Amino acid sequence: MANNMRYFIGNWKMFGVPKSISILDKINKFVKSDKKFNKKYKVVIAPPYTLVQSYAKFFQNKQISIGAQNCYHKDNFGANTGAISPLMIKSIGTEYVIVGHSDNRSEGDTDVMLKSKVENSLNNKLKVVFCIGENKDHKVSNKTFEILETQIKNALDVRFNFKDIIVAYEPIWSIGTGQIPEPNDLLKTTIFIKKVLNNIFKKKTSTVVLYGGSVDGKNISQFKKLDEIDGFLIGGASKSDENFIDIIKNYYR
Ligand code: PGA
Repeated sequence: MANNMRYFIGNWKMFGVPKSISILDKINKFVKSDKKFNKKYKVVIAPPYTLVQSYAKFFQNKQISIGAQNCYHKDNFGANTGAISPLMIKSIGTEYVIVGHSDNRSEGDTDVMLKSKVENSLNNKLKVVFCIGENKDHKVSNKTFEILETQIKNALDVRFNFKDIIVAYEPIWSIGTGQIPEPNDLLKTTIFIKKVLNNIFKKKTSTVVLYGGSVDGKNISQFKKLDEIDGFLIGGASKSDENFIDIIKNYYR
C-alpha cells in the first residue's frame, strides 16, 4: 500500500558544529516557501548528539524536525558512560531517532539491542527510523530478502505502534558509494518489506518505507516513479542545503 506523504530525512553522521545550523536554516526557508510542504512531504534532519538540543530548540515551531542518529538500548538513567537514552533524547524536544543504521550494526548493535532501542524509543513517544539492509555478499548470493526479513522480525513486534515506525531500506553496498539499486529491484524489495511488515503487524499497515543509499539531486529522478517508496534517508547530500533542496525540487519536477 502506498502512502501519500513523502519523507526526506537527512543523516549528518559525524558532521557539523554549532554554526552548521545555517545549512538547516536555508533548508527550512525553502520548505517554508514551498506550498507542497506539509501536504506532500516532511523534512527531518538528524545532526550529531552535540547539536540536537540547540537545533531542536531553534526549529521548535518551524517547519523542519530534528532527530537523533542513535540512542542507547537501555532507557532512563544509568551508569553507562557516554550513553544517551531515549528518555534523554525525548526530553530535549526531539521527535525522531534513527535506530539500526549499518554504521552502528557494524560496531556492535545486535538485534536484541535494536529491539530494545526501538521499544524504549516508542515508549518515550519518539518516532523511530529503523534501518535495515543487506551487504554486497548477501546481494550476490541472493540472500537479500532473507536478511531483511530477519532484521525486521528480530527487532519489530506486533505490540509496537507501527504508526510511529518508519523503516529505511539502506543496502550497505549503496551507502556512500554512488551505487543505487536497479529501480525494478528496489520496487520488488520495497513491496517485500511492506509484506513482511503487514505480517508482523497482522493488518494492512501503512508503515512508511524509505530508501537510503547515495541519493542525490541527479539520481532522485529515477526513484520518483516508484510510488511504493515513501521517501528517502539521505546521508552525504544532506550536509549541503543546495544538494538537499535539489533532491526535493527534482523529486517533484
Ligand atoms: P549516503 O548515506 O546518502 O551518503 O549514501 C545514507 C545513510 O547512510 O543513511
